Amino acid sequence: MLITISTDRRGFVRIAEHLNIVLNNKIVYSLSEEKIVKEKRKDKPMAGIGFKVMAFMFKFRDMVNSPKKYLKEVEMKEGDKILDYGCGPGSFVFPAAEIVGENGKVYATDLHPLAINMIDKKARKKGITNIETIQTNCVTGLTSKSIDVVLMYDVIHMFKEPKEIFVEIHRVLKPEGILSVTNPHMRERDIITKIVENSEFKLVKQGEKTFSFQKK
Ligand SMILES: C[S@@+](CC[C@H](N)C(=O)[O-])C[C@H]1O[C@@H](n2cnc3c(N)ncnc32)[C@H](O)[C@@H]1O
Repeated sequence: MLITISTDRRGFVRIAEHLNIVLNNKIVYSLSEEKIVKEKRKDKPMAGIGFKVMAFMFKFRDMVNSPKKYLKEVEMKEGDKILDYGCGPGSFVFPAAEIVGENGKVYATDLHPLAINMIDKKARKKGITNIETIQTNCVTGLTSKSIDVVLMYDVIHMFKEPKEIFVEIHRVLKPEGILSVTNPHMRERDIITKIVENSEFKLVKQGEKTFSFQKK
């Protein structure tokens, strides 16, 4: 018997998790353990209401502390390719898109579908074409060594498996690229320790608002 199921990769994995193909009472096909474990990464989206409250609060945060001040420290420039990892509702995505201009690009990455929807909707409404959203909890699918700056703002405290994420960020950053980090939930020395102990990055600059790391 042939059964045809049309689905995307995520859907396939979800189906495969529940599916062993059985012939004459023997399992003849099941998805490899390794692949299932990868898809079962622990970082999961927060509740929708929690995300909406956070997005509302960020409007006030951004009025008090302009995202542009953070981006100024990173020295991003026209034509750069930026990855905002854990971009949330996009406080840093839109100012970054303005700085890099039409020849640049901002990849806005978040595991939450609401973050992706909010950014897509706002970009469409404003006619902004240099923002691309990616919904993921680790793997970005971006080309290796293609990114000039990765922003990780207010997110590293949420990583349950930081090592895998830093490997991915290391892969996509250009050799001289900058990983820019800030986190109001962590002490400064804990931010540095978390990154240095879980990655192949070294601290190269401490600004007023952000830490800049580069590949070792
Ligand atoms: C506190 S918000 C900060 C958002 C944004 N960086 C800012 O400062 O405005 C953290 C965001 O990171 C996302 N996030 C958490 N863990 C993640 C992961 N493993 N991969 C991608 N996004 C993640 C959450 O869904 C949330 O939108």
